[in-house]
Amino acid sequence: MDAESRQVAVGHFNISDIAGFNAVAEAAEELKLPVIIGVSEGEREFVGVYEAAALVRVVRERKGVEIFLNADHTHSLARIEEAVKAGFDAVLFDGSKLSLSENITQTKKAVELARAINPNIFVEGEIGYIGGSSAILKETPEGAALSPEAFTKPEEAERFVKETGVDALAPAVGNMHGLLESMVSGDVKKRLDIELVKKIKESAKCFLVQHGGSGTADEDFVAGIKAGINIVHVNTELRLAWKKGVEEGLAENPDEIAPYKILPDAVSDIKEVVMARLKLFSQK
Ligand code: 13P
Repeated sequence: MDAESRQVAVGHFNISDIAGFNAVAEAAEELKLPVIIGVSEGEREFVGVYEAAALVRVVRERKGVEIFLNADHTHSLARIEEAVKAGFDAVLFDGSKLSLSENITQTKKAVELARAINPNIFVEGEIGYIGGSSAILKETPEGAALSPEAFTKPEEAERFVKETGVDALAPAVGNMHGLLESMVSGDVKKRLDIELVKKIKESAKCFLVQHGGSGTADEDFVAGIKAGINIVHVNTELRLAWKKGVEEGLAENPDEIAPYKILPDAVSDIKEVVMARLKLFSQK
């Protein structure tokens, strides 16, 4: 809410391990900015649902960092229930592959279920499939809403929010999960339809979440936030930084076998990305 009134956005960063977690937590602590840790269903399976909740709680309580936990891209009510019971601060029910009316029906159930367990939970819904993996892609994901006629319509957004009661909406406005090979070098950028973001904000009147943040043009991040985006998700850029850091750590210490001596490069490479993104998202 504070971010909304100050026209800045909160960074949401996905993690798969302790290197990623420490990188995000340290960046938030150093910059004194709030941050959201995201764990998708796959990431939760690896990290552990209760383990992720414990990590976030410990850093929040012991270090005073404004760090929150989101059950990113959750496709079933059972997984929503599990995350809320484990103490997550936020959940995303992702019905973006369903028809609008089926998406509304399922998301409404997710909202009711989550709030029955924790009335303060922050619930997000999604309209418009924008791909499903934070990976390097040879081609755009099949069926993704990447052309203007497939983007989220303001009137659909309004109906979705009214009928489901979500706190936040993730629309399709030119964004896409993952990076095309042509985007890895940074020469080709993802572009957002800023006018559409404005219209969706006016009609949906709720928090807006930009997914697929990796590789977005800096000026579009800034303009999107001014137009009403409140939370920005970044994952692929962090995964690339993790891989680079692990490779550097192994190359620099070829005889080393202690993970805690190999992985600091991964932590610092991820942290660098997170710091740069947090600074951009909080720029006025
Ligand atoms: P990117 O991997 O494209 O940054 O998208 C991340 C995301 O939206 C996670 O929910």
